[in-house]
Amino acid sequence: MIEKMGGLRRSHYAGELREKNIGDEVTLMGWVQRARSFGSIVFVDIRDISGISQIVFDEDSGDEVLKKAEKLRSEFVIAVKGKVRERSSINEEIPTGKIEILASDLKILDTAEVPPIYVKDGDNVSETMRLKYRTLDLRKPEIQKNLLLRAKTYKAFRDYLAGHRFVEVETPVLGKPTPEGARDYLVPSRVNPGKFYALPQSPQLFKQMLMVSGYDRYFQIAKCFRDEDLRANRQPEFTQVDIEMSFVDVEDVLSMNEGLMQYVFKEVKGIDLEIPFKRLSYNEAMERYGVDKPDTRFGFELVDLSDILKDSAFKVFSGAISSGGSVRAININGQAEEFSRKDIDKLEAFVKTYGAKGLAWMKLKADVEIQSPVAKFLGEDEIKSIIEKMDAKENDLILFVADKNSVVFDSLGNLRNHIADKLGLRDHDTYDILWLTDFPLFEYDEEENRYVAKHHPFTSPKDEDLDMLESEPDKVRAKAYDIVINGDEMGGGSIRISNSDLQKRMFNALGIDEKAQEDKFGFLLESFKYGTPPHGGIAYGLDRLVMLFAGTNNIRDVIAFPKTQSATDLLTGAPISLDNKQLEEVHIEVLRRED
Ligand code: AMO
Ligand code: AMP
Repeated sequence: MIEKMGGLRRSHYAGELREKNIGDEVTLMGWVQRARSFGSIVFVDIRDISGISQIVFDEDSGDEVLKKAEKLRSEFVIAVKGKVRERSSINEEIPTGKIEILASDLKILDTAEVPPIYVKDGDNVSETMRLKYRTLDLRKPEIQKNLLLRAKTYKAFRDYLAGHRFVEVETPVLGKPTPEGARDYLVPSRVNPGKFYALPQSPQLFKQMLMVSGYDRYFQIAKCFRDEDLRANRQPEFTQVDIEMSFVDVEDVLSMNEGLMQYVFKEVKGIDLEIPFKRLSYNEAMERYGVDKPDTRFGFELVDLSDILKDSAFKVFSGAISSGGSVRAININGQAEEFSRKDIDKLEAFVKTYGAKGLAWMKLKADVEIQSPVAKFLGEDEIKSIIEKMDAKENDLILFVADKNSVVFDSLGNLRNHIADKLGLRDHDTYDILWLTDFPLFEYDEEENRYVAKHHPFTSPKDEDLDMLESEPDKVRAKAYDIVINGDEMGGGSIRISNSDLQKRMFNALGIDEKAQEDKFGFLLESFKYGTPPHGGIAYGLDRLVMLFAGTNNIRDVIAFPKTQSATDLLTGAPISLDNKQLEEVHIEVLRRED
């Protein structure tokens, strides 16, 4: 049944035919989306990368062609020649719905078994099946649209950056551990027994060395590898648009990136972004939104009630404050009726996943003044002050968490987004873009009992905070910034330390001794000795940006061959066990195998 193209050559793409093509002789090639046979007439939808057209086979097509058409099944690959004509029953749903093609020739280029998943958008098939049969899944118009959007995004970045004197340079994938702080993926070296490469978590150190080498402005669309817990917007291998610039300070980097974002949004989505972007300091973001990547399209801001409640008889509240924490609340204004007891129980379960011990609540009602399980523990004055400070009115719902600050911020910050999701306040068509600035330089690692770099050890402190580097490290702010869009971290970067004395102070503050400095970063420090320009940069999470453009919450929808939450590839079966011979070659003995 399978034929050669037999001299047929594609003249058009199936999804691009319009009324203006009526009367044209065309040849299309693609897959059978569906075939319906009514005896002497067969309708076939042919699909290619551009879309779908309807083909008609009837007695005018000739007996032989009509007979062949009756054999067509979904996903057969065909070449069809015919004449475009007006369609009698117009289909408004598709762009080619006003025309059809009366076939005069048909070649079956390949047959297909019954596919295990339908090539159809919105089909309710499990993601496991979709990933296992990814080549079929990738045929779906929705996924093809996403990958085309991704290709457009690469091009927009490349065009802008190449047009602004950025030099595209590739950096090694087999390398030494990079300082981004996740676990490394390791590759054994066959020719260097017992030694390993680490796959890059980012090109960070190489891009800095390129600045030392005088390349002035660098970019790369780079694969990065991080062995960390996966979430809806994280993959073990993902793509960064990585950028570094010489002779710049924070303002230069931010304004270059505003121009870049403006261009990318315009090219990819046709959207005009206003610049400069809003800015929020880390401290303000935490106080108002509880997270360092706030979605500021809706209110429900955090309010600190500790002043009012520090002496409360309700020990859950006053106790949290006296042990150094706080009581904070958010007001879900005008929505109290939307939340039943059961709904609030679910919200409580939600905050518990962030370590909160409970979720106290208060509803303001018209008939009774308030409804709240904790009202009986609170004084009348306290309740009055809370209502005043929360600016609460009828039908408002106030949600409280009392705990140490990190838990209060984390649970209320995430609850805020969670509720806004439920209330439909976070659509995919508006873009809330902001720079988050003035991150702390350090964070305290409670397990290791020491300060660690919040970003990485080459991030420059702010000049005005330098004096506190040794005395009050927790107060030192960094020349670091993140770009946050709709509550997601789309990119981040910093101005780097380019002065060796300051770098030494930084290592000391981090408790990284000279030997460790030498072992880990000696090559970088050595290169810094011979003339280092001031430099800084940023890296965008390209997958996340494309998710935003595509309007999806699932990172796998924008990656051709993604991995599951447990870092496996269901299509190829990676990772795999190796036989002993292969292991011996790389000098490895396996201690535990999971099959
Ligand atoms: P950072 O670690 O913030 O910075 O990474 C930059 C951006 O990459 C994206 N990202 C991810 N996307 C998908 N899956 C992941 N597992 C993942 N991890 C990170 C995020 C993030 O904002 N070298 C520095 C940049 C610099 O300082 O210039 C760096 O890698 O969108
Ligand atoms: P309990 O005294 O444990 O019955 O709690 C009374 C109410 O306070 C319940 O609605 C709990 O969800 C809430 N609650 C308990 N612990 C906390 C906390 N740390 N922060 C906020 N609310 C809490």
